[in-house]
Amino acid sequence: MTRITRGYRFVASHRLHSAQLTEAENAELYGKCNYPFGHGHNYSMEVSVSGEVDGRTGRLVDIGALDAYVDRQVIQTFDHRDMNQDIPQFRDVVPTTENLSREISRRLKEEWKFTAVLDGVRIRETERNLFELRET
Ligand code: NI
Repeated sequence: MTRITRGYRFVASHRLHSAQLTEAENAELYGKCNYPFGHGHNYSMEVSVSGEVDGRTGRLVDIGALDAYVDRQVIQTFDHRDMNQDIPQFRDVVPTTENLSREISRRLKEEWKFTAVLDGVRIRETERNLFELRET
């Protein structure tokens, strides 16, 4: 089994606020991330695929095709967006990076046609935060 990890970047803003919590609970739980008008991040995302290398081509996946797919399914939707306003899934779901990685994984699986399987998604929100969603 071989795994390939490819890196991508996008910028987006969000506000962490749960409708299921009170104003005070939101402020206590999310701190600065609960400020009313949101804040931005330079997200760096890694997408891993795994499987067996094709004996004819010597490759696991066509990187150019993977890039085009990730761009269409994720980057074009999220880049320079306000996640709370622009991404329907985050109208009622708090756009934490835990939920962001789940939503990105869901979008990647939607029309996945590669022989290699989606192995995982990692999103770095800040230099100190790395969120990892493992599929296998
Ligand atoms: Ni944030």
